[in-house]
Amino acid sequence: MADDTLLLSDQLKADPRLAQAKKLILEAVADHQKTMQSVRPPRTELKQSYEAMLEKFGSLRNGSLFFPYLSSGIGNGPFVELADGSVKLDMITGIGVHGYGHSHPLLVEAAIDTAVSDTVMQGNLQQNTESYELCELLVNLANETGGAFKHCFLTTSGAMANENSLKIAFQKNHPANRVIAFSHCFAGRTLALAQVTDKAKYRVGLPDTIAVDYLPFFKHDDPQRSTEIAVSHLKYLLDRHPGKYAALWMELIQGEGGYYPGDVNFFKALIEVAKEAGVCTIADEVQTFCRTTRPYAFQHFGLDKLVDVVTIGKISQVCATLFTDEYKFQPGLISQTFTGSTMAINSALAIVNGLVKQGNFGEGGRNQTLHDYFVKGIQKVGEKYPGSIAGPHGLGGMVALTPFDGTPEVASEMAKRLFDAGLMSFMAGGDPARLRFLMPIGCVTHDHLDLACQILERVVGEMAEAATA
Ligand SMILES: Cc1ncc(COP(=O)(O)O)c(C=O)c1O
Repeated sequence: MADDTLLLSDQLKADPRLAQAKKLILEAVADHQKTMQSVRPPRTELKQSYEAMLEKFGSLRNGSLFFPYLSSGIGNGPFVELADGSVKLDMITGIGVHGYGHSHPLLVEAAIDTAVSDTVMQGNLQQNTESYELCELLVNLANETGGAFKHCFLTTSGAMANENSLKIAFQKNHPANRVIAFSHCFAGRTLALAQVTDKAKYRVGLPDTIAVDYLPFFKHDDPQRSTEIAVSHLKYLLDRHPGKYAALWMELIQGEGGYYPGDVNFFKALIEVAKEAGVCTIADEVQTFCRTTRPYAFQHFGLDKLVDVVTIGKISQVCATLFTDEYKFQPGLISQTFTGSTMAINSALAIVNGLVKQGNFGEGGRNQTLHDYFVKGIQKVGEKYPGSIAGPHGLGGMVALTPFDGTPEVASEMAKRLFDAGLMSFMAGGDPARLRFLMPIGCVTHDHLDLACQILERVVGEMAEAATA
């Protein structure tokens, strides 16, 4: 008998048929994924139809895919089956999206809960309780080590979270109309963010929207001097355009720019000057969220009290802008029909709670130990083929290497060769170009990392041999 004191939705959630269906579905997925324990080449009989599909898709979307990657819809942790029958070891995970890899039971369960929910998308006039739970979780985590974030607005892309953060900063600091960012930063591809992103190619043909000035980023090989240079340039800009800067835009670890972590003293020195001038400090954590020793990289760097607005995305599935009371926006500035799909919101809750519970954070947490293990493996490959690998670089769940001479052509060639050999990576930066890995930190094991290094070793060996031939 159903308990009539419960809401209907709670009665449905407690229905034994649902529990049984969940069990059956999870068993079926597990049965079908269990043979996926390593990489596999494509099937010859699927080659032609797969290539035709890729070509048509490339034409439909006005640009071919960098990798011939179309997932068939099933995976097993870091392994994913493609529609050509191949199985890849996915160590780039959609540039940091699949934190629990592919077809993970946590996410299958979230999908089943979503399947019986009343709504596909949540947003403006259609919020369910999960949206509230997620906002609360993200704010609580952000305040765990001294932050003062009071508000969280969900959204569907990293760019939109960043766009919202810019609007918040501009409104509060009106009539300031300029932004300061770091050279080589990436912020997204809206009209405003294409202007912040320091890559001319991404704004070809676009009108100027906001005025952005750049500071050089931290240099690990010259920490003190690079900090002094950036601070003095910041002071120069603030003098040159007094009262005109609304925000200091910071990626705490440069992602697309090439996996360059910043430094606590560097950020503190800049933020001190910026705050004195009333400039809003924004941390763009769309790529770094959940990948350092703390859920937020601003916590990893001890900037809890110094960041006013933080944006997250990718691994969280739902993106968000968190901000302090000082940056509360006025009604009407930000609203969206869609702030996230119910599936994305349920997955976000499962992923973020899962990473916290299974010990991904903290000194000596999984993010750190996986990083150290992977870096050692990559170093060994570099030692075997001198001159083939510089680095590795990065932090926590973000790892990169500079291949050979670091030209974009070599990095791209290595990414493609690795893909053909079964290992997925992607390029970052430009001078030098690097190869990056965003491992699925929720489910990757040392065995997976060993396999990644074996494939890397094979491909590096082939490239080294070709270079000397
Ligand atoms: C640091 C950073 N900010 C913003 C974005 C944009 O996110 P999205 O592609 O979800 O719009 C990205 C995406 O790569 C990013 O790495």
